[in-house]
Amino acid sequence: MPEEPIANPGLPPHEPRPTDVDPEKEKRAERQVAALFGLSAISTVLFAVAYFTLDVGDNWSTFGSLGASTVALGATLGLALLFIGIAIIQWARKLMGDHEIVEMRHPAYSEEEDRQRALADLKIGFEETGIARRPLIRNSALGALALLGVPAVVLLRDLGTLPGDKLEHTIWGRGGQKITTVVDGKEVTVTVPLMRIARDAIGTPILASDLEIGDLVNAQPEVLFNPERYYVDPSEVEGINLQINKSKASLILLRMEPDDITPGKGRDDWDVNGIVAYSKICTHVGCPISLNERTTHHLLCPCHQSTFDLANSGKVVFGPAGRPLPQLPITVDDQGYLVAQSDFTEPVGPSFWERDYDRDRFGDDD
Ligand code: FES
Repeated sequence: MPEEPIANPGLPPHEPRPTDVDPEKEKRAERQVAALFGLSAISTVLFAVAYFTLDVGDNWSTFGSLGASTVALGATLGLALLFIGIAIIQWARKLMGDHEIVEMRHPAYSEEEDRQRALADLKIGFEETGIARRPLIRNSALGALALLGVPAVVLLRDLGTLPGDKLEHTIWGRGGQKITTVVDGKEVTVTVPLMRIARDAIGTPILASDLEIGDLVNAQPEVLFNPERYYVDPSEVEGINLQINKSKASLILLRMEPDDITPGKGRDDWDVNGIVAYSKICTHVGCPISLNERTTHHLLCPCHQSTFDLANSGKVVFGPAGRPLPQLPITVDDQGYLVAQSDFTEPVGPSFWERDYDRDRFGDDD
């Protein structure tokens, strides 16, 4: 056996801790650990209370511009995790076995004998935690850890808010409606003009004759730029209302050779001399689309490469999207401007499980 360069000093003798020799101190440490787990549980409950009682927009002046909800959720969840961490450290320091051991180097593989020894050590370690004979700690720890699932549930709930019928109607449907309004102090019933299609950002209505074969235009309903013409209160197309209406109504216009179009069932009159209109919102998870392959009339979504055939009812030809792009039926008004015949005839935006998709009407997109 080669001589060791330095004499092995061995392990110092084990020094018992106060909690090893004094049952009173041991009991006190046990209660401290349980109290810390209890504080964690209270913090988690406060997290849930804060989530349901504080509005996201609330501010506490002492935190400047930080929202009350944000501060409360962060603080309570942070404390819940902190108390669990401190409890585990205290448990290990004061109550679990603290015998130092020497582990000799050994081959990477484990001999059967080593495995048995490891299992035996694990068993000893488990017994030294005292979890079997300390039901107070065990139960409080289980309670604190189980309650940590509550934040996960409430946070996941926010991811799953379902849109209900909010995507079934867009402001394109305002055109052509009969409404009652007040003109010169008198209540009258009027028909709202069909909604003109306007260029995005600048709001100029688009003449069908403006578009050349191959042109692709991002468009919006004219009401967002000229609400009075459609008897809409300007406040309905300002601020957050503007953002909501704009995101739902965003449109792609493309002009192609009329003979290239294969109209879907019931869509023979949905284009104007080769000009077709589709929702700009991808039916996969809602990215805005505008990458056009001119020769194939395919529209490519940059997010996950879903590809839609604009010459064939917006059907999916590639990628993860499960539904065709919704098509907007269009025509021209008496001045030659492109207008929507009606609203979209199906919900816009990404798929969601409660969405009612009518395969008889729109065909199978497989
Ligand atoms: S959002 Fe368009 S492919 Fe995923």
